Amino acid sequence: MVAAASASGASRDGWSSRSAFILAAIGAAVGLGNVWRFPTLAGESGGGAFVIFYIACVFLLGLPLVLSEIFIGRAGQTDAVGSIKKVAEDSGASPRWSIFGAMGAVAAFLIVSFYSVVAGWVLYYAGVMGWDLLQAIGSGEPFRGALVGESQEMIQGRMGNLFASPGMLLSMHLLFMGLTLWIVARGVGSGIEKAATWLMPMFFVLLVGITIYGAVVGDMTDAIKFLFTPDWSKLTPAVMNSALGQALFSLSLGVAGLITYGSYIQEGSKLGSTSAAIAIADTSVALIAGMMIFPIVFAVGLDPAAGPTLVFQTLPFAFQSMPAGALIGFLFFVLILVAAVTSSISLLEVPTAWGIGERGWSRHKSALIFGGGAFLIGIACLLGYNVWADVRLLGFWSLFENTDILDTVDGFTGKVMLPLGALLTSIFVGWKADQKMVQDVTGLTGPMFGVWRFLIAWLCPLAVGIILVTGLFPSVLGG
Ligand code: TRP
Repeated sequence: MVAAASASGASRDGWSSRSAFILAAIGAAVGLGNVWRFPTLAGESGGGAFVIFYIACVFLLGLPLVLSEIFIGRAGQTDAVGSIKKVAEDSGASPRWSIFGAMGAVAAFLIVSFYSVVAGWVLYYAGVMGWDLLQAIGSGEPFRGALVGESQEMIQGRMGNLFASPGMLLSMHLLFMGLTLWIVARGVGSGIEKAATWLMPMFFVLLVGITIYGAVVGDMTDAIKFLFTPDWSKLTPAVMNSALGQALFSLSLGVAGLITYGSYIQEGSKLGSTSAAIAIADTSVALIAGMMIFPIVFAVGLDPAAGPTLVFQTLPFAFQSMPAGALIGFLFFVLILVAAVTSSISLLEVPTAWGIGERGWSRHKSALIFGGGAFLIGIACLLGYNVWADVRLLGFWSLFENTDILDTVDGFTGKVMLPLGALLTSIFVGWKADQKMVQDVTGLTGPMFGVWRFLIAWLCPLAVGIILVTGLFPSVLGG
């Protein structure tokens, strides 16, 4: 059954309980950012120092922002633009602040378009590994390595072959976006919440299972040393910038995603502990994902600094010589896929809620318009790997001179829109929102409120402002 939520309807769709909200928000936070981007960046940046700095960013900047976004949504009870307007009006501030809600909806729309393309690669690899597993079972050796008989060149060449095939990329993107759209169109309770309650437990079982596997057959000692022993000389300004950006991305901040999810909280406060649960869960998953991937990489003596292809080229090769590699390889890509689904629905939900709240569209119509639009932009992103390989969307801008379409959309949203959204959120909540209302809605009191206030009003604008400037003008960092 699809809830017919109308814009002005008295019974707006919402979460069934506090724990349902927490699970859905963790589902939004835990995604490709944790299992693909975090290990990639940690590997490239040399491990320990990056990881420790990242954790500091999460708790000093991310957590106060998580609480701020949820506060706006909880107080506003409608889409991001409407919610910011309401908080602004109740605080005697200009309703124009809602511009960062609209900007967030645009950013979320752009992010989901390429997120679905990347998730499509994962889907393809899950298919390849699944097929390999079937063959292993068929030949009576279900516990053999993955893709045996393929040379390292063949395995690594798979990604190039995939990128050279617009048809395959398109089919995978279509399947993934279709799934995202279907869940969002079903609504908050019977779509998003249901997906989270089914998929998140599955995700945790797979994560713990594969990590234990990695500890048994892989090199956990080296992995832990790599992830947690800081070599502070590696903490360059560029590495700090990428850790800050990653903290925002991983916690789903800056695009009004948590404003939107927070607006479906129907009662209760305790937003402080709720926000802490989300930040702790997201960070734990990123760290565990590191402890899942690196023991396997080190056991086979591969390079942790492989970059974005770490998960797609390095690991499938590692699975070749691992016991039960066919099975684990398949489960590994299923795990990433599950994480990606619960995040992509949170991204599509931001513009969809905007269409419902500000335009009065039905949920079906709104989800279809934005899901369809993001699908089309995604097509441009995937063509950027083959037929449009020479296109440079923002080629006039030195920052994007040499970036293909997908990386341009990723870079522009990640380096410009996301930090800008986070900056405006912190200024709005720290300086413009009525602080009495903040206390009432969040349930924060005493010294906790004081600490939060200091972080959101002073540290966040400063630190996020720095990410924005150094991200836009990398020469400032001397890089
Ligand atoms: N946080 C998700 C991840 O780590 C991605 C994501 C979902 C996101 N919603 C977002 C990123 C909003 C930025 C903004 O994969």
